[in-house]
Amino acid sequence: MNDTEYYKLVRPYEDAMNMLLIRVRVVGHSLYNKEEEQLYHTIQSRIKGKDSIENKLEKKKLETSVKNAKDYLRDIAGIRVICLFREDIYRLVELLTRQSDLVFIKEKDYICKPKENGYRSYHLIIGVPVYCADTMEIFPVEVQFRTMEMDLWASMEHRILYKNAQKKDREKIKEELRTYSEKLREMESYFKRFR
Ligand code: GTP
Ligand code: MG
Repeated sequence: MNDTEYYKLVRPYEDAMNMLLIRVRVVGHSLYNKEEEQLYHTIQSRIKGKDSIENKLEKKKLETSVKNAKDYLRDIAGIRVICLFREDIYRLVELLTRQSDLVFIKEKDYICKPKENGYRSYHLIIGVPVYCADTMEIFPVEVQFRTMEMDLWASMEHRILYKNAQKKDREKIKEELRTYSEKLREMESYFKRFR
């Protein structure tokens, strides 16, 4: 995949992502007059880089072609929605699922069912229709919904384990991460009664 092919590949994914970003922002501040009632705290977005696309295809033992990227990757476009409370996540998801032109391709609820390592987050792959002159195509966007404490944990885990790939204290770190995942969950549960 050369640079020109890469930019051509990602353009409609970027369009899909930008349209979805607006939708999330609009449903997220539907209580216009009360800033503190906004359903999300921050929203981030990114388009997967060329190297990252190629590495992921290689990991899947696939040729690094534009066609394979389109056929096998569903996280070329990604949005991360960070909320304060987990109820806000489910409310946002409910509001989005009512939008009948969005296609709900896949859901992974790591909040109800955390991963063994302690990772928690709610993932959706949403298909967004992109209309061009005389065509329409659905492009997938990966949306990760997290509370701030889930995001803190995930960012820390990513950073610490990535940096400590070969270190001997890896098992100890993993154990501590599982403990902190639970502590952070308790913190969010405790404070939500005072919201
Ligand atoms: P990927 O091939 O990594 O995209 O995983 P998947 O297709 O099985 O999807 P999944 O929904 O499990 O994970 C999607 C994304 O969630 C990952 O690319 C990460 O950004 C994030 N994620 C999943 N598991 C973990 C984890 O254990 N730790 C951290 N920090 N992030 C994770
Ligand atoms: Mg991914």
